[in-house]
Amino acid sequence: MKKIFLIGYMGCGKSSLGRKLAKAGGMEFMDMDSIIEQREGASISDIFHYQGEEYFRDAERALIEELGTAEGDMVISTGGGAPAWQNNMELMNSLGATIYLRRTAQQIASRLSPHGRQKRPKLRGLNDEELVAFMTTNMAEREPFYSKAKYCVDCAERSDAELIDYILQIVKENE
Ligand code: S3P
Repeated sequence: MKKIFLIGYMGCGKSSLGRKLAKAGGMEFMDMDSIIEQREGASISDIFHYQGEEYFRDAERALIEELGTAEGDMVISTGGGAPAWQNNMELMNSLGATIYLRRTAQQIASRLSPHGRQKRPKLRGLNDEELVAFMTTNMAEREPFYSKAKYCVDCAERSDAELIDYILQIVKENE
């Protein structure tokens, strides 16, 4: 059973790339944020607002354990904050291949639509300047966790198709 965990900052492309990667590799695609939203019957913003971040982080952690030990080959797109909670990186590393999709704050800011900012409680309401400043600081805090990934992939210079080939190749070589 193969499990590929895609990790990285909000807006780096974990979900969109993950869907294509799963298709190319003949694996199932699991988007953790979407699964939690479906199960809770609430948006991530509402979960943060009404239940609190800790509740969300506990749900994320339980889901990592559940998916990581489930039957079948899966590409699992994680939420950007999951690696920085408890020992989730160690947990994911013990359950499968962790791939850090690295992009700079500038690149991510230019990719994020207004809706993309609005639906993320941590980015909501920030103007362009505040967004880059917040992300730069927050990414630096998370980098020590992200960099525990088994593979770190620089995304800037690669198309999605190249990224998919590259990730499938490194995972295969290290099986
Ligand atoms: C978060 C990232 C989001 C989502 C929540 C918190 C974070 O996921 O889990 O808004 O703390 O970085 P994406 O990385 O898919 O945006």
